[in-house]
Amino acid sequence: MRFPDITIAIDGFSSTGKSTLARLIAQHFDFLYLDSGAMYRGVTLFAREQGLIDPDNTIDPALEAALKTLDLHFGQGTVLFMGTRNIEKQIRTMEVSSQVSPIAAVPYVRSYVDRRLHEFSAAGRVVMDGRDIGTTVFPDAEIKIFMTARPEVRAQRRFDELVSKGENPVFEEVMNNLLERDYIDSHRETSPLRRAEDAFELDNSEMGLTDEIAWAEGLIRGKFGLLDAPANNGGKAE
Ligand code: DC
Repeated sequence: MRFPDITIAIDGFSSTGKSTLARLIAQHFDFLYLDSGAMYRGVTLFAREQGLIDPDNTIDPALEAALKTLDLHFGQGTVLFMGTRNIEKQIRTMEVSSQVSPIAAVPYVRSYVDRRLHEFSAAGRVVMDGRDIGTTVFPDAEIKIFMTARPEVRAQRRFDELVSKGENPVFEEVMNNLLERDYIDSHRETSPLRRAEDAFELDNSEMGLTDEIAWAEGLIRGKFGLLDAPANNGGKAE
């Protein structure tokens, strides 16, 4: 059966598997998937290429005007493009990962990304993942999920992902980057990462993908009275 045309917001810490769950929901239930973190990564790549961010993360205020020329959009499904250039690979490197949180803390960068996300999702029926989707970008989303997992589980996932992409990561660096991003993301002034009061929490430290999609399906069905509320695998409603 086809679920109603709703917006699903998935937020949580780095490497909790938000994009994996969002992609699965998009595939299984025919939603458009939008990865908001990719947009912040795209802005970071742009700032690096334009020489508008130093290695010590000092951001040149000229970035604000430069953003007016930046065309970031998704194509071929969920691939991020800068103009006609596919930048999916460059935005996932450790270099970009280590500078993205300071960039994402800048209010005019957040406005730029929020505006683009609203444009992309104008047609509705969207599942979007990030840090502030359920709190700021789509506070009225019908379904909100907040994902967590133990830090060592998350660092191992990010480590494996980098290895599978041909990088040569050091586990401690991956762990430190993750903890640093958690801190910056949840302590910044503009739209800090936090669980929306009406979000269902999912700790997937010990869960496989089949369990997660079953949990999400139960959640959506439960919410719309299509079935009983989901069996609670770490999820809770408030
Ligand atoms: O999900 P990700 O690791 O690709 O996100 C990259 C960074 O972007 C992350 O460190 C925080 C930031 N981000 C954000 O501030 N708000 C969002 N909605 C999504 C990501």
